[in-house]
Amino acid sequence: METVGVVGLGIMGAGIVEVFARAGLRVVGVDVDEAAVGRGRGHLELSTGRAVDRGRLAAEERAAILDRITLTPDRGALADVDLVVEAVPEVMELKRALFADLDRICKPSAVLATNTSSLSVTTIAAGTSRPSQVVGMHFFNPAPVMKLVEVVTTVLTADGLAARIADLAVRLGKTPITVGDRAGFVANRLLLGYLNHACRLLGEGVSGRDDIDVAMREGAGLPMGPFQLLDLIGLDTAYEICEVLFHETKDRRHAPSPLLRELVAAGRRGRKTGEGFYARTETPTLLDEGPKVAVTSVGIVGPHPEHLLERLDAAGFKATAGDIPDDADVVLAICPPPVVEAAVRLPHPDRVVGLHLAGDRVGEVASTVLTAPEVAAAARDLVRVVGRVPVACADRAGFVVDALLLPYLNDAVRMVESGYASFADVDTAMKLGCGYPQGPFKMLERLGLETVRDGLRALYAEYREPSFAPAPLLERLVAAGVRSTGDLTPNR
Ligand code: CAA
Repeated sequence: METVGVVGLGIMGAGIVEVFARAGLRVVGVDVDEAAVGRGRGHLELSTGRAVDRGRLAAEERAAILDRITLTPDRGALADVDLVVEAVPEVMELKRALFADLDRICKPSAVLATNTSSLSVTTIAAGTSRPSQVVGMHFFNPAPVMKLVEVVTTVLTADGLAARIADLAVRLGKTPITVGDRAGFVANRLLLGYLNHACRLLGEGVSGRDDIDVAMREGAGLPMGPFQLLDLIGLDTAYEICEVLFHETKDRRHAPSPLLRELVAAGRRGRKTGEGFYARTETPTLLDEGPKVAVTSVGIVGPHPEHLLERLDAAGFKATAGDIPDDADVVLAICPPPVVEAAVRLPHPDRVVGLHLAGDRVGEVASTVLTAPEVAAAARDLVRVVGRVPVACADRAGFVVDALLLPYLNDAVRMVESGYASFADVDTAMKLGCGYPQGPFKMLERLGLETVRDGLRALYAEYREPSFAPAPLLERLVAAGVRSTGDLTPNR
């Protein structure tokens, strides 16, 4: 394949054009009119210009890349290309109409690919006269950066085509995984359940926008918080993917959260419209203003208080573990929710907060229904004293980090259990598609399978959400004493 076409020059489409042109292919980029083509040219100039400014691309290389690209509103220019990748909005009727057109315009040997995030590739393929030559070629945003390409095959795909597209992806410097046609494929199916759940936690007041973003970035080690990522993906796109996922899975966690719907209806679609959860230049910021109680004496309840005691002592506080003195100004209860059950057994329940140390950098500070706000604010200062970033949240199962992370890990186990993808492909998808530092199975190993299973049981007990119940495969792996999924094959 030497000449390719890309239809749709929004942020994704323009990114895909750049990827092909950087790999030395000639690209014809098409959009509906001159204005849309102009916007696509703008994306390309900005992205390649930034690479030159950062010293990642020589000016002559940039010129050569741009020279390989032809942008036009005329679909007829696609008549001789070997492959077309479609990147138009996620509306099935739009895609079907476009593919019917491409089927008519493109030479008979051309492969037609869709970059759909979640729509049925089979339905798109079946609407053409060449269904065996239609595949999914799913890139990730920002396309020039993210290394994953999901190659989606259908029951109609010709033998050998997936391998050809996977080879092409390798030529583009990407890592392909080949998957069947299920809503959300691998990465979006795992990612959107998590992002939508973050919207629900925010909507239900379990924690704040910036707290949740900081918790997931600093506490779970993800490259972006969920709301920053939703702004990058586009809230309308995320909403559509959730709709399609819910339609297929009937899992309530995929039903688009009311908050997402409201923002989309309000036109706040994320970076592409300048504002989504955040305004364009805004970043997550934890402001901790307002009254705080003066703290001299700190009590610590729960296992392994040594490190906290040492740090608080060194900072000049009178810190006590075990028998909490009556005069403790703040009590940090390191215990699972409901923390309030521990609080009511202490002399001053209003002075008690839950504390959960998430990863190496975050301390989640949970206010119970009885905690005084001035105490919670002072507790967050204490978390800073012990060298962590404090995240405020409510006294709910999993607080923030585990409530978001553990169901995602469980979903990954279920995906392998269903035979849809292998452990290795799922890990690859999340690392290379979403920039996660580890795939879910490496993460499971690090956290401990049993710990994750127990956390899920607690989440399920509180929320009664069926998909929070530990996956049967996870239960079996724990029962078998397995610590690493590396040596296992699916469905054993
Ligand atoms: N276009 C081109 N290049 C970009 C870019 C863009 N929009 N944004 C960042 N980059 C490049 C930068 O130029 C930089 O490259 P160099 O190191 O060569 O200079 C590199 O990416 C890192 O950028 P920054 O230093 O500015 O920022 P960062 O380190 O914070 O990384 C990020 C930015 C790569 C986006 C990172 O935060 C990340 O991996 N985030 C997760 C993104 C993600 O999950 N994407 C998938 C979304 S789901 C999806 O797309 C599928 C779908 O169907 C909805």
